[in-house]
Amino acid sequence: MTDPWNERADAYRTSKVFTEGPDLELMAEWAAPYATALDVATGGGHVARRLREAGLTVTSSDPAPGMQPDVVCSAEDIPFADASFDVVTCRRAAHHFSDIAQAVRELGRVAKSAVLLQDAVWTSDEIEEAERLRDPSHVRHYSEAEWRELFAGAGLAVVEVQAFEELLDMDSWLARTNCEGATADRVRELLAPVTRGSDWVYDYRVYRTEKQPG
Ligand SMILES: C[S@@+](CC[C@H](N)C(=O)[O-])C[C@H]1O[C@@H](n2cnc3c(N)ncnc32)[C@H](O)[C@@H]1O
Repeated sequence: MTDPWNERADAYRTSKVFTEGPDLELMAEWAAPYATALDVATGGGHVARRLREAGLTVTSSDPAPGMQPDVVCSAEDIPFADASFDVVTCRRAAHHFSDIAQAVRELGRVAKSAVLLQDAVWTSDEIEEAERLRDPSHVRHYSEAEWRELFAGAGLAVVEVQAFEELLDMDSWLARTNCEGATADRVRELLAPVTRGSDWVYDYRVYRTEKQPG
């Protein structure tokens, strides 16, 4: 699983889809009251960078050494004690986790106060199939109701949710995972209902959760 991510590291470090966005700014705003953070599945390290700019002391983690995180680990098994960080962040990554419930429990366990998480919303089976064809490491997106259950199972209360719509340039999105030929054609076909010109519409949410006592 980590090999493709090591190969893709540069694309994820420099792509505008990752380096900027209203979700990144919102996560920085929500994290600003805290002093320490762990950014899980840090990829190109954009949340970690943005939180450091906001004044936090940040540790980054990712299972792919090529992403150059501070700590190499999966979200399902985080090598820190309970409540080690004021806030734990996770952006554009949870749909790759093989055991989502275990991963969310781990995010909640190492957080002292809050978990901030961004991911796309489950919309249709066709979009899920397109995502898996384009990137076999895609596991699944979840609906907001499923996320609320996952957070509740990890002792986290959802206190705020913001929804965003992003236009993703189809060609560069396919190129980031080297998806070409007949597979790319099938992906375009599956995404036709949510395609506008050269872009496709990606719906995502940012969740602000707080750790519940006990
Ligand atoms: C799209 S990138 C993350 C983007 C980054 N968070 C950002 O905001 O730019 C997805 C990352 O998830 C990581 N990943 C995949 N499976 C994982 C798992 N089980 N636990 C933690 N990270 C995982 C990959 O190594 C990759 O760096």
